[in-house]
Amino acid sequence: MAPQISPSILSADFARLAEEAKAVEGADWLHVDVMDNHFVPNLTLGVPVVESLARATDTPLDCHLMIEAPDRWAPQYVEAGAGSVTFHVEAATAPVRLAREIRAKGARASMALRPATPIEPYEDLLPELDMLLIMTVEPGFGGQAFLDIMLPKIRRTRELISRHGLELWLQVDGGVSASTIERCAEAGADVFVAGSAVYGASDPAEAVRALRKQAEA
Ligand code: DX5
Ligand code: ZN
Repeated sequence: MAPQISPSILSADFARLAEEAKAVEGADWLHVDVMDNHFVPNLTLGVPVVESLARATDTPLDCHLMIEAPDRWAPQYVEAGAGSVTFHVEAATAPVRLAREIRAKGARASMALRPATPIEPYEDLLPELDMLLIMTVEPGFGGQAFLDIMLPKIRRTRELISRHGLELWLQVDGGVSASTIERCAEAGADVFVAGSAVYGASDPAEAVRALRKQAEA
C-alpha cells in the first residue's frame, strides 16, 4: 500500500481545532488522541469534540483511544464519525468482540501496542483487524524522542502480516519525523502519525507532503 500520513491534532492549537484540521487537508487521516488521565497520565478530549471535528473537516478521523474501558467507549467514537478507531490491547477486555463491533458499526478496527507489549501473543487476532498500531514512544505526550528499539518489532510484525497474507495496515506513532520516517518505512510501517513534525512546521500541509515523499522513497 502507498504510505499514508496521519497528522496528530494533539500538537495543534486546541482553541482553533477546525482551522488546524483544515491546515492539513490533503493528509490521508487526521489523528485524534483521546486520553483519559488513567490509561496515560494526560487528559485531552472526548466524544463531543470528535463529533464536532468530524463535521469540521473532510479528512477521515483516525481516533487513537488511550483510555481505560475501550470496550465501553470505542463504539461511541464510531457513532461520532471516526473512520478508524484504535483501542489499546492492554486496556481491552475482549479485543476480538470489540474489533468486530467497531467493524460492524462501519469503521476500520485497529489495535495498539505500548512499547513493552509484544506482538507475538496477538498473532491469531490479526485477521480481525484493519490496522495495528505500534507505539514508538510511551503514549501520553507529543514531542517525545522516537524509540529506535521498536524497529525490530515493526519488522517482525510486518513479517507476520505477510506470512498470514493479510492486508492490514501497520501504523507507527510517536517521534515520527523527517529524521525517523525512513527507518519506519524500511522496517515495514505504512501509516505514519506525526504531531510535532507537522504542526511544529511553518507550513503543516507542506510538512505532510514532504513526509509522504520520504516514506515513499
Ligand atoms: C502520543 C500520541 C501521539 C502524539 C505523537 O501518546 O499517541 O499521537 O501526538 O506526537 P509526536 O509526533 O510529536 O511524537
Ligand atoms: Zn496517537
